[in-house]
Amino acid sequence: MALKEQQRGGFTSRMGFILAAAGSAIGLGNIWRFPYTAGENGGAAFILVYLIFVVFLCLPALFAELAIGRATGKSPVGAFKALAPESLWKFVGGLGVFTGFAILAFYSVVAGWVLGYLGKALAGHFSAGMDIATSSEQFTALITSKGLSIGLTGGFLLLTALVVRGGIQGGIERASKILMPIFFVLLVGLAIRSVTLEGASAGLYFLFAVDLSKLTIPVVAGALGQAFFSLSLGMGAMITYGSYVGKEARLPGAAVAVAFFDTLIAMLAGLIIFPALFAKGGGAQVTGGEGLVFTVLPTIFHELPAGFLFAVAFYVLLGIAALTSTISLLEVVVSYFVDEQGWTRERSTWVVSFACFLLSIPSATNVSFLALQNTIFGKYALSIGALLISLFVGWKWGVRPALAEIEGGRPMPFGRLWAFLIRYVCPLAIVVVIVAVILGIST
Ligand code: PFF
Repeated sequence: MALKEQQRGGFTSRMGFILAAAGSAIGLGNIWRFPYTAGENGGAAFILVYLIFVVFLCLPALFAELAIGRATGKSPVGAFKALAPESLWKFVGGLGVFTGFAILAFYSVVAGWVLGYLGKALAGHFSAGMDIATSSEQFTALITSKGLSIGLTGGFLLLTALVVRGGIQGGIERASKILMPIFFVLLVGLAIRSVTLEGASAGLYFLFAVDLSKLTIPVVAGALGQAFFSLSLGMGAMITYGSYVGKEARLPGAAVAVAFFDTLIAMLAGLIIFPALFAKGGGAQVTGGEGLVFTVLPTIFHELPAGFLFAVAFYVLLGIAALTSTISLLEVVVSYFVDEQGWTRERSTWVVSFACFLLSIPSATNVSFLALQNTIFGKYALSIGALLISLFVGWKWGVRPALAEIEGGRPMPFGRLWAFLIRYVCPLAIVVVIVAVILGIST
């Protein structure tokens, strides 16, 4: 490893990078945001468009971000400055830093709810035979306890800050090498239980029976935002992680693996939530929004062997999945102040986390504010960020140097297709969706 890399820190292996990138991607976006967004957007048609976006927009965008990061070895603002000096492109990095900060401010509120639910699971609050209505009351009680909600949010931010400050990401990632497979097994267990409940078929129908007439512009915009959110794209998190990857690591396979597992886990979450929701007579609540997952899950834990342990393990692991995502969000902002403003990591971590805590209070005390932040930053800011990043790689930096960076001397099979997607398909698709939203076209 070169001296510069040693000082800055970096992944010591390709596996370390895959774990970190997968850790960033897999989180509340898959388990919490995907099901409720799919629910609000009519189910199957939304999911179909989401999958198309993952393959044709997100995968190319993921390659693009990783290439920018690895080519420059810098976090977003510095990376754009290095590749396009004396230009306005650095503001794309700036937008990413701000977006990361704003996403962290509502994401940690939801992560706080996970802590709250871990507490409920430990206290044995999920009684056997609990129905959707009772469960829903429990959720409302939690989010309307303002002090508790703020405290849990602060607690989760503190946890994130301690990891980012101490640079113990490596340890967390190594731990998640064991923990995430366990989480995966729990998810599969829950999904099997859910789809075998009596009356589950209505949920499967909701998930898989595509009704193209439901495909409106808002649905497509929702799928676009969800796809970028889930893969941590559009704000430079993957630029930052790309900057820590050694030159010898093969990027394409790693990127495909990350996208594949991220999507698989989102689909599993769908297979858990909707069959159970319909089976438990809560079908009318598919559009239940932010509380959907928190409401549905407690009704099925007791239908499983060792329900108590299952529930506790589930919330612990979901909390860890959320933590590896909040780490990446905070890392983008912290590394900006370290790399560009010359702050120490310590100072940067505490100042940013505290500011983020302040910004999280409106979301922690008012779920409509959380929804608004989620829409502005989680949906639109990421989509616009991804648009600008694809324009940058496709038209400013250039597909040749970017491709050379991705390939690292080993030509990849779909290089030309990638170049076409990043130059034309990504920018056009995003522009069309955003313009349609702005014009208020709804069908
Ligand atoms: N991808 C994360 C999730 O699905 O939970 C959320 C996220 C992390 C979004 C990092 C954006 C980001 F830069």
